[in-house]
Amino acid sequence: MAASNIRFGPGATAEIGMDFADMGVKNVLAVIDPNLAGSTAVTVALQALDDEKVSYTVFDRVRIEPTDESLKEAIDFGFAHPADGFIAIGGGSTIDTAKAINLYTTYTADFMDFVNAPIGKGKPVPGPVKPLIAVPTTAGTGSETTGVVIFDIVKMHAKTGIANLQIKPTLGLLDPDNTAGLPRQVAAATGLDVLTHACESYTAIPYSERPGPKRPNLRPAYQGSNPISDTWVLEALRLVGDYLPREFDDPHNDEEARGKMLLAAAYGGIGFGNAGLHLAHGMSYPVSGMVRDYKPEGYKVNHPIIPHGMAVVLNAPAVFRFTAEGCPERHLAAAEALGADISDATPADAGKILSDRVIEFMQRFEIPNGLSAVGYTIDDIPELVKGTMPQHRVTKLSPRPFSEEELAKLFEDAMKYW
Ligand SMILES: NC(=O)c1ccc[n+]([C@@H]2O[C@H](COP(=O)([O-])OP(=O)(O)OC[C@H]3O[C@@H](n4cnc5c(N)ncnc54)[C@H](O)[C@@H]3O)[C@@H](O)[C@H]2O)c1
Ligand SMILES: [Fe+2]
Repeated sequence: MAASNIRFGPGATAEIGMDFADMGVKNVLAVIDPNLAGSTAVTVALQALDDEKVSYTVFDRVRIEPTDESLKEAIDFGFAHPADGFIAIGGGSTIDTAKAINLYTTYTADFMDFVNAPIGKGKPVPGPVKPLIAVPTTAGTGSETTGVVIFDIVKMHAKTGIANLQIKPTLGLLDPDNTAGLPRQVAAATGLDVLTHACESYTAIPYSERPGPKRPNLRPAYQGSNPISDTWVLEALRLVGDYLPREFDDPHNDEEARGKMLLAAAYGGIGFGNAGLHLAHGMSYPVSGMVRDYKPEGYKVNHPIIPHGMAVVLNAPAVFRFTAEGCPERHLAAAEALGADISDATPADAGKILSDRVIEFMQRFEIPNGLSAVGYTIDDIPELVKGTMPQHRVTKLSPRPFSEEELAKLFEDAMKYW
């Protein structure tokens, strides 16, 4: 089990300058969400650096849902402005961009060297990178706890990633003051990302059924479900069930709900960052990558996107109906943690119970009704399947093996739910 250090509490952002001073970091590259200039999170964090006389340069050209091109531009900026530490203030897009700058400015490499095989070369990161403090302003990805960077390879219209524990942030700073401005649609999509992380981590094939690595440093970040991850993700599911509705209804005033959702996101990240994910995430990568013209409400972007949290939860009910056969008790336990009544349930009901519960959340949080509502038709299924097949890092953790035909059927089932 590997996880970042986590600090939680309203106002914790003001401590950041002291953390860098104590680490001996004198010159920071501050990687900032393009829409958060002037926000509380950014103002407090930069003031904290000033107070401790830590100098900084700001990079705010982060792309929401990064691409290989946007990361390369960010890395070039990193080379032009050498730093001995990094701070990321934003959602997963910003934190992932900061991780990439940190990695590629520390170790000279071709961009594809560290990218997951078979899309990239999947080389292990040679050693430690520089200090990175991640300050999430969404409660979703758990990127502040993981050694994962996710991005789109533009030419392939598919998402992939870099996964290595060396690149996880030094400290994740969870401050509920920083999510107060979250548009409710962003709160919904990011919260359902947490739900999907936790369900997939809990239902992934067990670590004991996976081949062991030749050396410990070759052990993949995603090891399969395991007792430690289970503990964190079940609690994440309980928190999502109790607090996401409250955050969605009143994101500005309900500080307790915002705090609990930040914890849920981090707990989910600690869990899935070691256990891994499976089909809902694997299928989401082409769903996001092949977007045509969908522009979601609440997202300030000038390019079409299917936001990550939405792209994963759109597949989730179809996936859990299918995967339940692989480990029905675990699907039932996940549904129960999300508040479903499982008192009379039999193992044969597990898939339906969990997917019905997820659909209730989708409706409650005004998520589009399936892939057809974000622009896909059954004619797109062959391409969606083609974009999912190389996502071995996650798909091989599915608790039920699947064929290409079964995957096509899953996309068909995900087109419309109600
Ligand atoms: N590294 C990981 O472990 C991991 C895990 C899951 C997802 N991801 C990746 O993370 C990215 C998604 O990140 P995300 O869901 O956190 O969202 P995001 O970073 O893409 O941001 C979503 C939107 O919310 C806005 N926003 C963020 N914080 C705000 C705030 N406090 N107030 C107002 N607006 C705010 C942003 O400007 C943007 O428009 C995707 O690229 C996804 O693939 C990474
Ligand atoms: Fe995710």
